[in-house]
Amino acid sequence: MNTVELTVNKRGLQRTIEPRTSLADMMRDTLDLTGTHLGCEHGVCGACTILVDGVPTRSCITFAAACDGADITTIEGLDDDEIATELRAAFTREHALQCGYCTPGMLVSARDLVLRLPEPDEKAIRIGMSGNLCRCTGYVGIVRAVKSVIEARRARDIASEPNAGRTVLGPAGSGHKACTVSQQLASTRPATTETMPAIVPLAIPDFTPSTVMKQSFTVAHPPAKVFALFDDITTVASCLPGATLTGTPRPERVEGAIKVKIGPISANFNGAARVERDDANLAGRIIGIGNDQRSRSTTQGEIRYRLLPENDGAATRVELAIGYSLTGMLAQVGRSGLVRDLAARLVGEFAANLDRRLSGDTITATASAAGLNGSSLVLGLLRDRAARLLQRFTGRGDAA
Ligand code: FES
Ligand code: FES
Repeated sequence: MNTVELTVNKRGLQRTIEPRTSLADMMRDTLDLTGTHLGCEHGVCGACTILVDGVPTRSCITFAAACDGADITTIEGLDDDEIATELRAAFTREHALQCGYCTPGMLVSARDLVLRLPEPDEKAIRIGMSGNLCRCTGYVGIVRAVKSVIEARRARDIASEPNAGRTVLGPAGSGHKACTVSQQLASTRPATTETMPAIVPLAIPDFTPSTVMKQSFTVAHPPAKVFALFDDITTVASCLPGATLTGTPRPERVEGAIKVKIGPISANFNGAARVERDDANLAGRIIGIGNDQRSRSTTQGEIRYRLLPENDGAATRVELAIGYSLTGMLAQVGRSGLVRDLAARLVGEFAANLDRRLSGDTITATASAAGLNGSSLVLGLLRDRAARLLQRFTGRGDAA
């Protein structure tokens, strides 16, 4: 047996393993990091690609014992990574996955290309991705997705890094004889069975949402009054079912939590947001990021709003564009139609609460803390869908 010390997804750990244990088996079987997929198990398909000391590596043909002291990043460790976030959004946008089996390895390899390629050169992308096989897509969407992320980043003046962190020659994971990880272990905790910590960055990053939904509602109050209320973050949060603030809100940073329940999974997203306002156009933007420790799900969201006068300025039409990207377990159950319906109902409740606030009513603590409850909302939307179906079959307009 061999004892190895590794840093996996930023956590130091020590494990005793058999000399023949591959890095992929260690990640999956010992650390429960099952986002590392196994396809061919002999270094051909690329499904098992992970980062070892920052370099994409076939973990199925890399012995864990040979990586003593190495820094490992699996797909789970890229949840908050800026490039991986942009790639996930691009993969969704460009239909770059179907069954998704190859996708974790694809994303790890694509991230390396995004870092290294100076230009969005299609031929170089095809060559760079040729070590990752996909049996479903035909590659066109994958190439388009990678190309679009490189294009967008170079347009934002983010330069390429020719070596992308490659500092050691030799087989992946080697070169750690003078291992310093053991000295760090004393101050770090093992990463195996405990839940991951909530990581909320100090600066709230911009991002490209993978899904954007448009919603609107009207309240019987003038735009200036509604805009003033939108400036009161505490009140706005109290109108949002399940949302609570955990600190004193400031426009550049609002910290809080929101409860969500979809099917069997309930989540409590802790996170932070920043608020931007455009006084001249009665518009604004709220950008947030949060994660749930239990389901290991992360979400980034953006709400853009614009207030338009109606009824000669006596009422306000609130136009919302809600964008989000979701990763982790909730993303598996969060089918887009269901999430869209849930968001529509959330906006409906928000609008009703907002109207009450503007009319001087208070919102009961119980109602506000009830959360975005998938069970009750799903029942409601099933009712609506059943009514719509009935209407279609009977041709009756009053079925709903
Ligand atoms: Fe490792 Fe196929 S499973 S390359
Ligand atoms: Fe199915 Fe690539 S999406 S293997």
